[in-house]
Amino acid sequence: MENLDWKCLPFGYMKTDYNIRCVFKNGKWGKLEVSSSEYIDIHIAATGLHYGQEAFEGLKAYMGKDGKVRLFRWEENAKRMLSSANGIKMAAVPIEMFKEALFKVIQLNKKFIPPYGSGATLYIRPLLYGSGAEVGVKPASEYTFLVFVTPVGPYFKEGVKPVNMLICRDVDRAAPYGTGIYKVGGNYAASLRAIITAHEGGYANTIFLDAKEKKYIDECGPANFFGIKDNTYITPKSESILNSVTNMSLIEIAESMGMKTERRPVEVEELSSFSETGACGTAAVISPISKIVDPEKNMIYEYCKNGEPGQLTMKLYNRLVAIQNGDVPDPFGWVTIVE
Ligand code: PLP
Ligand code: COI
Repeated sequence: MENLDWKCLPFGYMKTDYNIRCVFKNGKWGKLEVSSSEYIDIHIAATGLHYGQEAFEGLKAYMGKDGKVRLFRWEENAKRMLSSANGIKMAAVPIEMFKEALFKVIQLNKKFIPPYGSGATLYIRPLLYGSGAEVGVKPASEYTFLVFVTPVGPYFKEGVKPVNMLICRDVDRAAPYGTGIYKVGGNYAASLRAIITAHEGGYANTIFLDAKEKKYIDECGPANFFGIKDNTYITPKSESILNSVTNMSLIEIAESMGMKTERRPVEVEELSSFSETGACGTAAVISPISKIVDPEKNMIYEYCKNGEPGQLTMKLYNRLVAIQNGDVPDPFGWVTIVE
């Protein structure tokens, strides 16, 4: 891949050599198959297409300075896919099968893993969908699991440069007892109107509020929200947000750095009391927030007044990325080397 400009990669799709597929039929999973096609043949009545029986995951493989390839907390993604499958009544992917597919797809596409220091990574996208035909609204009896990879740059093109966020009060991503806690495609379809409004206004993304009261912060586009004040890392607790692996790791990292942490409902009005805010997720890593605009309430919350990310945000970011890349020992046991 000599002619690839790794440092300028967008967060986008690029064809790689292989993907892994597996079908659940007659009550059991078949064998993992390797495919070099970017396409799937799908039944016109598949429940994944009609009724949104579809869940996905997102994780990354990191190339270390030592030439070793690392995965970060892949078991958490495997468990979350189990939870998503249960949440929308799909066949669950066994954790061992999930792992085998990940390792296989990375090994087969090794040449696409961006080099150490490029700022890019290999994004891994496991996908599970109802591939069996139904016309009534009911779970399919056949499912397909596939995993593809694609090299990516940062999700927010600014990287660790602070971004602006828009509070969009007229769109809900997920309801309290809906599917917000699962990583299912419908949540992302529901978020698109708000994301487009934010982009059109020049914002990096949108902040979703709780759908019931419009009082609390839910999350930040495809990432969790956090705020910092008084040496405390604070992140929303909500019935309708995705439990981010990055966020749960940052909580532990913050504690190990002597910070206090709180996971609790965060009122929009509390935004004015934070000294730093950010969005975190696998794709976003940590994206510091410089400004949050709430047009309907005529409010603007500003951070990073000098245009630079806050000190504690950068400390958290540097520690997380150092563990992921294998630059420092991993005291938490989060990293798995892909042999
Ligand atoms: N919230 C949403 C809606 C997401 O899509 C993601 C991405 O996976 C996250 C949060 C961050 O989760 P994680 O850190 O597990 O990638
Ligand atoms: C991730 O952070 O891995 C995600 O899945 C976000 C994605 C929706 C772009």
